[in-house]
Formats: sequence, C-alpha cells, structure tokens
Amino acid sequence: MSERYLITGGAGFIGSHLVKRLVAEGGIVRVVDNLSTGHAERLDDVRNAIQFINGDLAEESIAEAVVKDIDYVLHQAAVPSVQRSIGDAVGTNQANVTATLNLLESCRKAGVHRLVYAASSSAYGDTEVLPKTEEMPADPLSPYALQKWVGERYCKLYYDLHGLETVSLRYFNVFGPDQDPYSEYSAVIPKFITNLLAKESVTVYGDGEQSRDFTYIDNVVNANLLALHAKDVPGKVCNIGCGERITLNKLIQMLEQILGVKAKVNYAAARAGDVRHSLADIQKARRLLGYNPQAGIEQGLRKTVKGFKGKLRY
Ligand SMILES: NC(=O)c1ccc[n+]([C@@H]2O[C@H](COP(=O)([O-])OP(=O)(O)OC[C@H]3O[C@@H](n4cnc5c(N)ncnc54)[C@H](O)[C@@H]3O)[C@@H](O)[C@H]2O)c1
Repeated sequence: MSERYLITGGAGFIGSHLVKRLVAEGGIVRVVDNLSTGHAERLDDVRNAIQFINGDLAEESIAEAVVKDIDYVLHQAAVPSVQRSIGDAVGTNQANVTATLNLLESCRKAGVHRLVYAASSSAYGDTEVLPKTEEMPADPLSPYALQKWVGERYCKLYYDLHGLETVSLRYFNVFGPDQDPYSEYSAVIPKFITNLLAKESVTVYGDGEQSRDFTYIDNVVNANLLALHAKDVPGKVCNIGCGERITLNKLIQMLEQILGVKAKVNYAAARAGDVRHSLADIQKARRLLGYNPQAGIEQGLRKTVKGFKGKLRY
C-alpha cells in the first residue's frame, strides 16, 4: 500500500487508532489536528512515520494545505459531545460543520479520490422503532447531533453536485483503549473503568435503563478501511455498530465482573439531549461494505480494561 491518507482528528481517540492501523499497513499518513480535544501523545509510537500538522480545519487555508497530494481522507475531526454542544452551539458548529465544509471544498478542488466521514448515530434521535435503519428520518436532539447530520448531508451533496466520492459511517457509541476518561465530556466506558480502577463511585444520568449499541474500536477501524474502496457506497450512509445493545446498569455489572470490584453508583437527573435507546441495524454495512463486527461488547470491554490498566494520565 503506498496510497496517501489524510486523517483529520488523528490525535483523537478514533483517529489515532486509524493512523496506527494505516501506518502498520504501509500507508503514507498525514494527520491534521488542532488538539482541542485530542492528545499528541497518542501518536508517540508512530511520530516518526507520519506527518503531523497542528491546525484548525475551520480555517480555509489549513483545509486547503492539508489535502495537497492526498488520495483518501478519513474525516474524524470534530468536537464530539452532546453536552458541550448544548452549552456552546456556535463554537461546536465551527468544528463540526464549518471545518467539514472547508474540507469538502478543498477535497473537491484538489481531486481527492474519496472522503470517509465519521457520522453519528445521534442523528436519529429517539426513534420508537429499534433497530435504527438508515431509511429512518433524522431527528437530532442536540446541536451536536444536528451538526454531525449536516456534515453528512454536505458529504452527500458534494457527491451529487461535484462527484466527490464521500461515504458517511454513522458510528454507534465507540469505545476502546486510549479513549479519554478525564474530560468533563468523556464517554461512559472510559469514565466508568477509570472510576472503578480508582475505587471511586460512578455517576449515571437517569435510571441506568437507557441502552446503547456499544461498538469496539477495531470494528470501526475495519469499517473505515472497507469504506475506502467499496464500490456502491459513494453518496451513501451506513450504520456502524455491533447490532447488540445493553443498558448502562448492565454495563456496570459487566465491568464489576471483569474488574472484580463492586461499584458504588450515584444516580443523577437525566440530561437533556441524551437519547434513550440506541441499536444499529447493520445489514446495509454488511451488504455494501462487507462489514462484519469482529469483537462484541464483552470481548471489547476486556480488551479495553486491559488497555486502561497501568495507563498514565494524559
Ligand atoms: N466516540 C464515539 O462514540 C463517536 C460516535 C459517533 C461519532 N463519532 C465521531 O467520530 C469522530 C472521532 O471521535 P472521537 O471519539 O475520536 O473524538 P476525539 O475528541 O477523541 O477526536 C476528535 C479529534 O478532532 C480534533 N479536532 C476537533 N476540532 C478540530 C478542528 N477544527 N480542526 C482540527 N482538528 C480538530 C480534536 O483535537 C480531536 O483530536 C468525531 O467526528 C465524532 O463526532 C464518535
């Protein structure tokens, strides 16, 4: 493989896993990241094998510079938090919409072969019917969900209008080693594991009976690599999940078992913008991408716990 890849948000959780996989497979890799929620240390192991650009894609000149001589773009950069977007709708719009539009425009001008976009299952909102299929209408419940959906629509529009090949992968609650547990906006799995390892109590917003299709990172990395070359996907959206869901209460029980500890759980008021249940229908990804999740929730949790044990704070 000597194709040239740009990974936006490559110092982030998902982006850094993609960078490492592509480097391992012999790809020529460039990363752009403004380190707003990312950590440069995540790329320490591959620092000498990649080109790293510290820049903000919301600036047109940066978006133009980073796509030069690039074949494929994996667009992961975003400020990925429902709660943060409610407090800062304008700031998150810059990172989630303006940056995406700048990047698409630059890719179009530079003749990039294909852009794969990290879309979000949050676009669905609270559907009555589960699992969620791509044909269901979007109904975003937060600025974040709306912004990610707008990004998706821009991707489709750039394919329809300009022929720029784009594919949107709607990720469902991704988790795995190296996910940031320390931010106020961290996802539940890294937060819970870190709390339990430190013998601290865990906080659950709501009654804990809300459910998620937690998706192990390796599945998401595989989906991205498949989306780079699959034939009938440009302009389309595919769910990327595991196709199984558990409640937060069940998640805590599983972590108690894996870690051999008893959790102290604080139940706090449910938060605005949070979806109640989430479960992906992954038939379309199976059909169009040849996607097949390799690791289920339990196996993924075991690998994640292993990754977190002994890990230093960022
Ligand atoms: N983690 C999940 O469960 C999940 C679910 C659905 C969708 N997604 C999407 O996947 C992508 C990656 O998420 P993640 O969990 O790795 O988040 P992350 O915060 O770890 O990574 C995002 C990266 O983007 C960088 N970034 C933000 N704004 C930027 C800008 N304007 N210019 C350049 N870099 C910028 C950040 O510094 C960070 O390194 C995001 O697009 C997110 O919306 C994630």
